[in-house]
Amino acid sequence: MKRIRVKTSREYEVLVGSGAVEMLEAELRRLTSAARILTVTDDNVAPLHSERFLALLPEDAEKHLFVIPNGEEHKSIDTVISILTYMKEHAFDRSDLIIALGGGVTGDMTALAASLYMRGIDFINVPTTLLSQVDSSVGGKTGVDFLGSKNIIGTFYQPRLVICDTNYLNTLPRDVFADGCAEVIKYAFINDESLLTIIEDGIEANIDEVVYRCVSNKNDIVSRDEFDRGERALLNFGHTVGHAVESLSGYTVSHGKAVAIGMAVITRACELGGICEPGVYGRLTSVLTANHLPVEAAEDADELTAAIKNDKKKSGDGITVVVPTALSSTKTQKMSFIELHKLIKGALT
Ligand code: GLY
Repeated sequence: MKRIRVKTSREYEVLVGSGAVEMLEAELRRLTSAARILTVTDDNVAPLHSERFLALLPEDAEKHLFVIPNGEEHKSIDTVISILTYMKEHAFDRSDLIIALGGGVTGDMTALAASLYMRGIDFINVPTTLLSQVDSSVGGKTGVDFLGSKNIIGTFYQPRLVICDTNYLNTLPRDVFADGCAEVIKYAFINDESLLTIIEDGIEANIDEVVYRCVSNKNDIVSRDEFDRGERALLNFGHTVGHAVESLSGYTVSHGKAVAIGMAVITRACELGGICEPGVYGRLTSVLTANHLPVEAAEDADELTAAIKNDKKKSGDGITVVVPTALSSTKTQKMSFIELHKLIKGALT
């Protein structure tokens, strides 16, 4: 098992490795004296992992389990209010602890509830999907969807601890594992060519190293730009087109698949537009395909640009896009919607 110290305004550790969750009780004794511990999980994860998980909590704490419905359609302020209601009705106070056990949706909502309850109580994240282990559990973003916009309500709230136990990934459906692979591949193409070599050898075969490397990469970025004012935007590689694909599909295309398409479209566009060195698109699409991810958009440039105009990251008549410039090299570039339309049209015709 490895430890990574995240150097945000509130520092914390991420434990990574197979069996890492066995460290939970020892870590809790070090970090908290909470009398009550609420574990929030969803109705997919609960039957698989909650019993064993609750048994790992200290015997002398009052243990609570709150099960929320799974799925992005339940990522709402109403679900967060249901968590807050449970805490209030069971007399949780500021010295208590809330833990998320599950994927990104559970983690984002539990973290939001933790940041709001009594202006913030301690929060620990135990992500059980590849996507949440390598991305959403680290860096302190919380959020819910609202009035048709993803993560439009949220806070920055750093956890006290994150435990990425790669054994949880053994029970993931192949399709959900593939979603996480898109985010893993993202890190390699942002700036980590040696991670790309490991990925090309096989993500599953090198899973502990892959999760460790992704969390380390994310730590490097969020430690320098915790509040998303500059460099952190690089983590959105593939996400501008990806979010458009997701929303145009009515969220039937999952986040990971949409990001895979988004990375492929913007990379091809940048190669054709002379922004990126040749060869990156081929290397990207072969690793995406090897990991059961799509690389082609079903939509045209008009449809994608219209959807991008609703992206929460837009500013005026344009948006900042992450563009690849060479293998494992990216930069942000502010583009007008007209420029972006022209660029992606070239890749889709
Ligand atoms: N998932 C992107 C970020 O944490 O900034």
